[in-house]
Amino acid sequence: MKTAVGTILITEEEIRTRISELGRAISKDYGGRTVTLVGILKGSFIFLADLIRAISLEVPVEVDFMAVSSYGDATTTSGTVHIEKDLGISVSGKDVIIVEDIVDTGLTLLHVHNILSARGARSLRVAALLEKPGGSKYERPIDYIGFKIPNKFVVGFGLDYAQRYRNLPDIRVLDES
Ligand code: IMP
Ligand code: MG
Repeated sequence: MKTAVGTILITEEEIRTRISELGRAISKDYGGRTVTLVGILKGSFIFLADLIRAISLEVPVEVDFMAVSSYGDATTTSGTVHIEKDLGISVSGKDVIIVEDIVDTGLTLLHVHNILSARGARSLRVAALLEKPGGSKYERPIDYIGFKIPNKFVVGFGLDYAQRYRNLPDIRVLDES
């Protein structure tokens, strides 16, 4: 549906339903084990906020964030990734789920995965709200995936274009002008 700000690709309700399903899957997979969610800032903050509340209270959950950058204000990948904010907690011996907004080239994920693996995480899985098709450098499966989307630049639900539109309640494609 076309709106004043872009065309809606995934509605609020579709997102809500899917995140509930992901939360249920995580709750089942982790049973009574403590899980450590590592959100990749900034894009994942809204997804993580909903996902953590969709996980059963029987699963103890820890959360921390890392900020890495692989995009400037452009809509193409630079191919370089920097750690801008590191974790405050240790992941050594922990069962970690990396929470990412979108997997495009997969470089961000590959980089974060390698860092957390080198720090001795006991297990590492990935939850990503969105996945773009083809060519991801992260070759492991994405364990908890919200939606596969076409190869378009999307905004909303935490995702930005030049730091804007993160507050849109759904996922939208900005109209070409
Ligand atoms: P990757 O390293 O190429 O997989 O890109 C990951 C990061 O690029 C994501 O965490 C997003 O912040 C950003 N990104 C990739 N595609 C989009 C998009 O369509 N909209 C907004 N941000 C995007
Ligand atoms: Mg991001």
